[in-house]
Amino acid sequence: MDYMALSAAEWQQEYDKVSAEYESWKAKGLKLNMARGKPSKQQLDLVSGILTALTSAEECVDSGVDARNYGELKGLESARKLFADILGCKTSQVFAGGNSSLQLMYDTVSKAYTHGLLHSEKPWCKEESVKWLCPAPGYDRHFKVTESFGFELITIPMTENGPDMDIVENLIKDPSVKGMWNVPKYSNPDGIIYSDETIERIAKMKPAAPDFLLMWDNAYCIHEFDGEFVPFKDILSECEKYGNADMVFEFASTSKVTLPGAGIACFACSEANMEYMTKLIGIQAISFDKMNQLRHVKYLQNKEHTLALMKEHAKIMKPKFDMVVETLEREIKPLGIASWHTPKGGYFVSVNTAPGLAKRTLALAKEAGVVMTSAGATYPYGHDPLDSNIRVAPSLPPVEELEQAMAVFCCCLKLAALEKSKK
Ligand SMILES: Cc1ncc(COP(=O)(O)O)c(C=O)c1O
Repeated sequence: MDYMALSAAEWQQEYDKVSAEYESWKAKGLKLNMARGKPSKQQLDLVSGILTALTSAEECVDSGVDARNYGELKGLESARKLFADILGCKTSQVFAGGNSSLQLMYDTVSKAYTHGLLHSEKPWCKEESVKWLCPAPGYDRHFKVTESFGFELITIPMTENGPDMDIVENLIKDPSVKGMWNVPKYSNPDGIIYSDETIERIAKMKPAAPDFLLMWDNAYCIHEFDGEFVPFKDILSECEKYGNADMVFEFASTSKVTLPGAGIACFACSEANMEYMTKLIGIQAISFDKMNQLRHVKYLQNKEHTLALMKEHAKIMKPKFDMVVETLEREIKPLGIASWHTPKGGYFVSVNTAPGLAKRTLALAKEAGVVMTSAGATYPYGHDPLDSNIRVAPSLPPVEELEQAMAVFCCCLKLAALEKSKK
C-alpha cells in the first residue's frame, strides 16, 4: 500500500485503523527510551573485569611511573601507545586525557577561541566572524560546541561517501571559515564511512584560513556490530602527506568500549601541535587520571585484544539493529513514506521521513511514552530544513522493549503521514 496513492476511502480506512492502534499503544502507559546512544546494561556487565584491573599498590607503577601521583601531563606512555595502536598513528602524536573526548574537543575549540591555534594570526575571539562547516545530519553535541562560541554554522549535505566535498572546497576559500566537524567512520547518525576519495580530498584541502581546524572525531573507529573490522586511514599521516600536518586534531575514547563517562579519551595531532597544546593544557591541569588510564591499558591490552572485546559488544548490538531495520522494512518500506541507512557499525539508524513528518512523528511517540532524540537535533541550530531526519538509538533498551518501541514508532510515523496526506 503506497500512502501517497490512497483514494479518499482507502485513506479513511487506513487512518481509522492506525489511529485505533495508536490509541491502544497510548493506553498501555509505556515508558521507553531510544533517545541516546548509550550501551545497554548487558554491555556494561561485559566489561566488569575493568573494575578489578588494579588491586595492589605495586600494580599502579607502569614502566617506572607511579600512576597514583602527579606527572605525565600527556598521559601514561602505555595509554598513549594503546590509542596510537588503535588509531594507526605514532605514540608521540597522542595525548591521553580524561574521561571524555567531547571535553577534549570543546577544549580545543575553546583554546582556538581564547588563545588561537599554532598558525593563528590572532585568537578567534578577536575575529569579526568565525564560520564553521557542519556535515549534517550530524552529532548534535558537536554543533552545540561551535554554536556556544557564537560561530556561524554552515550545513554541509552528507552523501553516501561523506560530506559533499565540492561544497566544502568552495566554502574554504573564505578565510573566516575556520573549521569543520567530521565523524569519518560510522558517522552519527547515518553510519556512513567516508570514502578514500573523500578522505584524500579533505587531507589535501587548501583552506584560506591558515589556522583551519579539521576536527576528526573517530568516536566509532572500532565499533563494528556487523562483520569484520573495517580498516581506516590514519588521518594524521594523510594530512602530513599534503603539507597539512598541523590542520587536524583527531579524537577517540573508550566510552563505548568500556564505560561511558568512566572511560579514557585522547586527541592525536602533529608533534608541533602537541607542543603548543601541552603548554596551554599544562596551565589548566597538572595531570589527568592515570589510574584509569592504567586500568584501561591492563584491561584492553592492545588493538587486537580490544577488537576481540568489540566482537562481544557486537553480539549484543547486532540483534537490536537487525530488529530495527527488519521492522522498518516490514512496516514502513511498502508505504513509501521514509528511507533509512542500514549501518554495519556505530550506534544509530538514521531514518529520513517524507518532508514535514519528523516533528509530528516524535511528538506522537512521546505522547505514547517513547522518547527519541528530538526532531532537528541532527542539524545545526536544531533546525532540520526538511523536518525529515530521525535518529533511532537502539542500543540501550533490551530487545523486548525495543520491539515495542519500534512498533510504536512505526505506528506514529504512519499516523503522521496519514494526517499530512488527508484528502
Ligand atoms: C560522534 C560522537 N563523538 C563523541 C561522543 C562522546 O564521546 P565521549 O564520551 O568520549 O565524550 C559521542 C557520544 O555519543 C559521539 O556520538
